[in-house]
Amino acid sequence: MCGIIGYTGPRVARNVVVAGLRRMEYRGYDSAGVAVVSDGRIEYRKKAGKITNLDAELDDHPIPDTGLGIGHTRWATHGGPTDANAHPHLSAGGRVALIHNGIIENFAVLRTELEADGVTFASQTDTETAAQLLGREVEAGADLADAMRTVCGRLEGAFTLVAVDAAEPDRLVAARRNSPLVVGVGEGENFVASDVAAFIEFTRNAIELGQDQVVDVTPTSVTVTDFAGRPAPTHPFEVTWDLSAAEKSGYDWFMRKEIYEQPRAVADTLLGRFNPDGSLRLDELHIPEAELRSIDKIIIVACGTAYYAGLVAKYAIEHWTRIACEVEIASEFRYRDPIITGSTLVVTLSQSGETADTLMAIRHAREQRAKVIAICNTNGATIPRESDAVIYTHAGPEIGVASTKGFLTQVAACYLLGLYLAQVRGSMYDDEIHAVMSELAATPPLIQKVLDELDPIKELAKRFVDQKSVLFLGRHVGYPVALEGALKLKEIAYLHAEGFPAGELKHGPIALVEDGIPIFIVVPPQGRDQLHDKVVSNIQEVRARGALTVVLAEEGDAEVEPYADVLFRLPKVSTLLQPLVATVPLQMFACELATLKGYDVDQPRNLAKSVTVE
Ligand code: M6R
Repeated sequence: MCGIIGYTGPRVARNVVVAGLRRMEYRGYDSAGVAVVSDGRIEYRKKAGKITNLDAELDDHPIPDTGLGIGHTRWATHGGPTDANAHPHLSAGGRVALIHNGIIENFAVLRTELEADGVTFASQTDTETAAQLLGREVEAGADLADAMRTVCGRLEGAFTLVAVDAAEPDRLVAARRNSPLVVGVGEGENFVASDVAAFIEFTRNAIELGQDQVVDVTPTSVTVTDFAGRPAPTHPFEVTWDLSAAEKSGYDWFMRKEIYEQPRAVADTLLGRFNPDGSLRLDELHIPEAELRSIDKIIIVACGTAYYAGLVAKYAIEHWTRIACEVEIASEFRYRDPIITGSTLVVTLSQSGETADTLMAIRHAREQRAKVIAICNTNGATIPRESDAVIYTHAGPEIGVASTKGFLTQVAACYLLGLYLAQVRGSMYDDEIHAVMSELAATPPLIQKVLDELDPIKELAKRFVDQKSVLFLGRHVGYPVALEGALKLKEIAYLHAEGFPAGELKHGPIALVEDGIPIFIVVPPQGRDQLHDKVVSNIQEVRARGALTVVLAEEGDAEVEPYADVLFRLPKVSTLLQPLVATVPLQMFACELATLKGYDVDQPRNLAKSVTVE
């Protein structure tokens, strides 16, 4: 949840660190801090609130220009978002400074032990226990990396730690368990960070740290060991996207930029998946076809928006493969003792590849001998690394906390997986698969068309700026679209919003309908879809009770016209693919409404982009 960075090299570390924090602020923005080593002392500044507060603090109280520094942007877990709880945390006596992402689950026991030994704590955080333990080891004469390994041996939970020692002007040591950490390898300089975005300006050469590893970094060396001090294997990779992908490029919000990137993101996700003969290929899927043929159940596991993408996928995968497909919220999955066997295929969806609940679900599934396929947007992240196979979505970095292109590309990747399984298992004829794939390949220009015609949705936001509640209805794949539309409004416009299956309305939710309440309704394609007429009836039912209906229906659907207070046209696509076009106006509506309300669209309150704690 937090963003962490460390730098050692010839540049001014404070500047590198603060610039890196700015690129990772989406990971948490409750406080920010920086520490540098200067003349055998640790100098640090930290402030509650966004990085602008830290900037002001650094302007008022500058810290020295040195070549070694660490920095942190926080999403608070233990201890409120105060200056004192901001990272870095120092050991008693100030010898060591440490930053942390994750949760140290046994911190209370450790803190009691340290306090009994006379250590006075300066914060309420779990992190400070690690800083104090590390300081004691180093004060007792341990080398910083040895001390880090000893401390890691005492910690339970999830943590990435980065520490510097006042006595070592160009060395930092980091450790990783269950939280992300990448090393940026430069020329005469090196970086560690939660995310490559923090150092992409300086180097594209990166190393993904594995589970339970410690990295010892100087300007000219990177040494990776396990927690026992043995040399550990590393996973080098090259970052393929450039800095502009991590910048707003003239847009007011990353979210808006990412909404507009969706045609490209979906096209890139589909790129290279088709053989010249029209058949589908998923090169990354290193699971033998015989095993894919023996699957008797699929469980899709994900959180938030990714979970809604999974709900869309269920309709497509079951229809195309005739394999039973369940969709489960990752945080619930392993606690209900799910029925998993060696012939269960677990599919996880995660934009970040670091979501702790999803990661724990993978571990649980693999313990039960299930095969796990990850659909993920982040190269080399923990979730794909711990899965049997991965299908990467090629959305490029998603920085807005509200997921947009992440959703569309996850849906597209799930379609690919469903069709591939159908191809391998023979549950569809080749020409049927080709027909769907051709239609899928033709969706990016249709998504662009939706984007080009969004002005009415933007105008609509002005009308609804004072609304207290908005409802969303859909059926079949339109239902998860409704859920996603509601989630977007909740998270960035702080507005009560609910998505319902339209057919469920009369079983309770219709009681919420009152005069003037806006209800968005996603209408299935006309004629080709049996549910179309039922949804048109649902529109009439809510309108008769005073709702203001905002109808999303395909071009040429005249039946909806009499019942739509506002009508937004969608390009013609088949029902299963409709989420790729129908979700876009809802994303933009939320973005526009939150902008009008004056909210920070990219950094909504209480949220962080990657939820790396359970
Ligand atoms: O990185 P992931 O796809 O695993 O993230 C899952 C959810 O935390 C994420 O989709 C969240 O719900 C977004 N804020 C929604 O916009």
